[in-house]
Amino acid sequence: MRPLPDTFSRLQRALHWGMVALIATNLALPQAMGGRGLALGVFPSEAQHIVIGCTVMALAVLRLLLRLTRGVPPEPMGAPRVFRVLARLGQWVFYALFFAMPLSGLLSYYLDDPTARLLHAEILRPLFCLLIAVHVCLALAHQFVWRTDMLGKIIRG
Ligand code: HEM
Ligand code: HEM
Repeated sequence: MRPLPDTFSRLQRALHWGMVALIATNLALPQAMGGRGLALGVFPSEAQHIVIGCTVMALAVLRLLLRLTRGVPPEPMGAPRVFRVLARLGQWVFYALFFAMPLSGLLSYYLDDPTARLLHAEILRPLFCLLIAVHVCLALAHQFVWRTDMLGKIIRG
């Protein structure tokens, strides 16, 4: 078996932070789609919501290929086992959401499918937000409690 890399490559880091920006935009500013969003005074249009969502899905294919070929650094032993397992599990749920969120949006928008609408707006949206909150807490715990420098690896490589 090929050894896992010590850190994230430049492309993996660019994909992580680029996708964070795209996903955050769609989650925080969906007003054009009739959704409740943050009052930032910025209102991406319907077309922008759709293009951003489809870009997330396209970049996720590349990211998944990189993950399966190059791999990602192992969860460091510094963190308790339960959190290591949770983090790995959560990452695969993220990958599922990278596809399920845009696909349910497309089905809802173009086929007017009520189940897809429910899934997109009422089930996957809160799940995505919850997972991001847990992920950020784990990233901060890695940095400041377990001192594993995973944050450094995803920022500087
Ligand atoms: C990363 C991808 C995406 C994210 C994170 C996202 C996020 C959101 C959010 C937060 C809402 C507002 C839900 C509410 O407050 O009711 C929404 C609504 C909506 N989005 Fe997306 N979206 C994504 C991709 C797409 C795509 C590709 C389409 C394709 C057309 C789409 C179509 C819609 C539609 C039709 C609604 C309105 C649903 C309703 O009637 O309540 N979304 N989206
Ligand atoms: C939309 C928000 C986010 C998503 C969807 C997301 C997704 C992911 C995914 C899937 C990975 C696994 C590596 C990979 O497969 O490329 C990862 C790693 C990582 N992310 Fe995020 N991330 C988000 C936001 C953040 C933020 C805001 C931080 C910093 C506070 C962060 C810190 C990290 C760290 C430190 C790692 C490496 C440690 C690990 O593998 O768990 N992420 N992220």
